[in-house]
Amino acid sequence: MGLLDGKVAVVTGAGRGIGREEAITLAKNGAKVVVNDVGAGLHGEAGDLTPAQEVVNTITAAGGEAVINGDDISTWAGGKNVIDQAIDTFGSMDILVNNAGILRDKMSFNMEESDWDDVIRVHLKGHFATAQHAAVYWRGRAKAGEAVTGRIINTSSEAGLFGSAGQANYAAAKGGIVSLTWVLARELERFGVTVNAIAPRARTRMTDAVFPEMAKSDDGFDKFDPVHIAQLIAFLASPEAHDVSGQIFVVFGGDVWAMSAFRPVGELHSATGWTPEDLVAHKGELFKDHPSTVPPFSFF
Ligand SMILES: NC(=O)c1ccc[n+]([C@@H]2O[C@H](COP(=O)([O-])OP(=O)(O)OC[C@H]3O[C@@H](n4cnc5c(N)ncnc54)[C@H](O)[C@@H]3O)[C@@H](O)[C@H]2O)c1
Repeated sequence: MGLLDGKVAVVTGAGRGIGREEAITLAKNGAKVVVNDVGAGLHGEAGDLTPAQEVVNTITAAGGEAVINGDDISTWAGGKNVIDQAIDTFGSMDILVNNAGILRDKMSFNMEESDWDDVIRVHLKGHFATAQHAAVYWRGRAKAGEAVTGRIINTSSEAGLFGSAGQANYAAAKGGIVSLTWVLARELERFGVTVNAIAPRARTRMTDAVFPEMAKSDDGFDKFDPVHIAQLIAFLASPEAHDVSGQIFVVFGGDVWAMSAFRPVGELHSATGWTPEDLVAHKGELFKDHPSTVPPFSFF
């Protein structure tokens, strides 16, 4: 018996990296999987479907069920096609893992319009294009009186939680994905759907050049193997996580953090409002327990 027996999953960007491990792990736990990937280059260059087909082959060789989908999930039609393919092939769609992504890192003063548009489109629109069509499907089933146990697991990043220099496009998209996660969690709760997001760290082509410290460790535990990310995904996708929604997790190796939403760190109150001069006078009070300068990148 697998934790996900009878479930149908869509994993976007599942041809390589983290998505590959997510697709294989969901299948190992009993889910039937639509392996979506356009096979893009790291920066979104034209694609090759071979890696996604190899993931399908790996799953089926191990006795699981999987099909390939080569749609571009950053389009409305692509988002619909991948959800429809799951329903048409396997009879339902229960788990949506939004993972596909590209990078175009540049400082804001060097960034071009296409760098901004493409990264926002693939990550932010790519998350919503699939989720919107999944939401239509689950709402329809719930309204028809069926029991729905839908799951959406989005992929944010610490870049989005803390705002990384050199990634205005990427960090803005990943921050937007956190807000989108909270919106969808509120909207879809009534239909039996949970929506969560992860901010992972793993060794993939996306991190190879930037984080050499993620190179394979030789102490017996490969902390940055993307397979560790996939375990949290399988948990969140399972019926046992029915009461976990609207949550953001930082995850890598053996470490999982549940992160809090924004909370006030200082406050001022006046029954008659504030003038700029008043705020000058009370600045120290507003920031008495919290520095007023640029926050640290990470809290770890
Ligand atoms: N690796 C990390 O440490 C890390 C950290 C934070 C966030 N992430 C996020 O995790 C996700 C996976 O990243 P990865 O490191 O595995 O990168 P990766 O480059 O190995 O994999 C991304 C996959 O997405 C696919 N893709 C790109 N555009 C697509 C589109 N329009 N439609 C369908 N598929 C598309 C690519 O072809 C590729 O196979 C991304 O959203 C990334 O931003 C990764």
